[in-house]
Amino acid sequence: MIRPIVAYGDPVLKKKAKEIAADHSGLQELIADMWETMYEASGVGLAAPQIGLSLRIFVIDARPFAEDGETEQEKKQLENFKKVFINPTLTEEGEEWSFNEGCLSIPDIREEVSRKDVVHIHYLDENFKEVTETYDGLCARVIQHEYDHIEGILFTDKLSSLKKRLIKGKLEKISRGEVDCDYRMKFPKNKKNRR
Ligand code: NI
Repeated sequence: MIRPIVAYGDPVLKKKAKEIAADHSGLQELIADMWETMYEASGVGLAAPQIGLSLRIFVIDARPFAEDGETEQEKKQLENFKKVFINPTLTEEGEEWSFNEGCLSIPDIREEVSRKDVVHIHYLDENFKEVTETYDGLCARVIQHEYDHIEGILFTDKLSSLKKRLIKGKLEKISRGEVDCDYRMKFPKNKKNRR
């Protein structure tokens, strides 16, 4: 089932999300809904807070980025990257690098965001099996972006104060639903939510 994506300004996007218990009811259905919702919106990642659930889970399908991989190894990593991350913990290292990021909750805004190059991630997969992995490049970036969501952080929080001031009006508009967007959204400051 496609769920509406929560737009910028909703308090759920600013909250640190809660861990998921192994007996969480309807978990497989939630995962299926997250995939469906993400694909419908042509996204590469979606975190539970973005559908209004303050839970520590996100899904990533980075395969559309495969062509953008800079090395053969990175291309290969991207080609095979379709994963569910539950209760992850993250450590970052390496050099900072910038990349133009967007977010399904913040349609129509893209900005350069600086992030570390390498992540070590420990998480549970969709079957609650423990996994530890290391990623670099674009995979590491998408993981960090989605991980931020379950920590209540948006990519716009990471911009310079000048950039923040420049996009403030646009963000306000998004929260009121004054934005063109071809997927279903829920806008916090719009009483009659779209569709
Ligand atoms: Ni996002």
